[in-house]
Amino acid sequence: MSAIFTETRVKRRCNSSHVKGKLMLFARHSSDLRRRRRSRFPLRLAAAVAAAAVAALVASPLGSEPASAAPTQAQGESLRDLAAQRGIFFGVAVSPGPLQNDSSYQDIAGGEFSSITHENDMKWESVQPSPGQFNFDNADFINSFAQDNSQRIHGHTLVWHSQLPSWVEEQGTSPEALREIMNNHIGTVAGRYAGQYSSWDAVNEPWEDDGSWRQSVFYTQLGEDYVTEALTLADQADPGASHYINDYNTDGVNAKSNAMYNLAESLVSQGAPLDGVGFQSHLIAGQVPGDYQQNLERFAELGLEVAVTELDIRIPRPVTQEKLEQQAEDYSTVVQACLNVSACQGVTVWGVSDQHSWVNDWFPEDAEPLLFDDNYQPKPAYYAVQETLRG
Ligand code: XIL
Repeated sequence: MSAIFTETRVKRRCNSSHVKGKLMLFARHSSDLRRRRRSRFPLRLAAAVAAAAVAALVASPLGSEPASAAPTQAQGESLRDLAAQRGIFFGVAVSPGPLQNDSSYQDIAGGEFSSITHENDMKWESVQPSPGQFNFDNADFINSFAQDNSQRIHGHTLVWHSQLPSWVEEQGTSPEALREIMNNHIGTVAGRYAGQYSSWDAVNEPWEDDGSWRQSVFYTQLGEDYVTEALTLADQADPGASHYINDYNTDGVNAKSNAMYNLAESLVSQGAPLDGVGFQSHLIAGQVPGDYQQNLERFAELGLEVAVTELDIRIPRPVTQEKLEQQAEDYSTVVQACLNVSACQGVTVWGVSDQHSWVNDWFPEDAEPLLFDDNYQPKPAYYAVQETLRG
């Protein structure tokens, strides 16, 4: 098991039990290590000198980047290497189809990234499409790719209103019935991978944009306690993983992130097993909130981990070179914010290349949100992230 895999599986915040006390010590040790690594100046300097030479060759205007799919791995300048030198992970969401069939996709997913999230294959509809019928084939395939490439794994997701098969609502018609369903789902899914995953989105997207509770079946049957119940079940099933609440449009200080903050603060004060808050960060070029870092910081000040979990920065059509450069600057802003907040564990981008992005289906008026283009060529955003990670 690689250092990355082991180290990032540690919780920074822990609760009362003996085991958690031990984890707390380990977490402190780990964050000390992280700080030490951050201050390993000579190493970073050497990396930066080597990187500058490479950058001079590759940081050229659009259209003249090198033809190799993952151009920097050979120089130790992959995003995962650079991120590791700064004490964070750099991750990607993947799908099993191209991971099995497309060697460029495999090379980039394995070579550039140190953390893997299943884009769809750990969701409820994927793993338990009908009551009691579990299917882990795709999830296991992705996990073995991650293990072969010494990558940490982020579980996405246990309790979410979307991509939820209709039987959950049909059968979860009382608090007791829904509790039983949740208990079985979380116990089976998180329990199966106990010890293998660094972190889990125990709860995804609990909020409406105005900061009110989303009226999911979980909320309507169980009230707001469903969050604590889900976190507790996930923690019981896999106590070594960090358990997160994750949402979108919580990336700056606003009504929705205030609701998340108030919940997080209250869960922390109650000693609920919440370890982190995830910021999906599905953003639009030119519209990164100015208080992005400040927002991460306030959650970190609660003693929680934070992570950028689903980063993509889509460009309103038509795509121009100017907008691609804006996008590059925006990626840099987000990555720099994570580097600046010591509780930030890392950044995950939501897809390997523009060709596979969900934006193509969900936001057809926008385009090209990722670091690699349709032909797996690195974009200005890729080089900007590289440069930012070099520091
Ligand atoms: C998206 C996937 O990328 C798509 O392939 C799928 O059709 C819908 O879900 N927030 C989340 C992710 O938490 O799970 C979503 O992923 C994007 C928004």
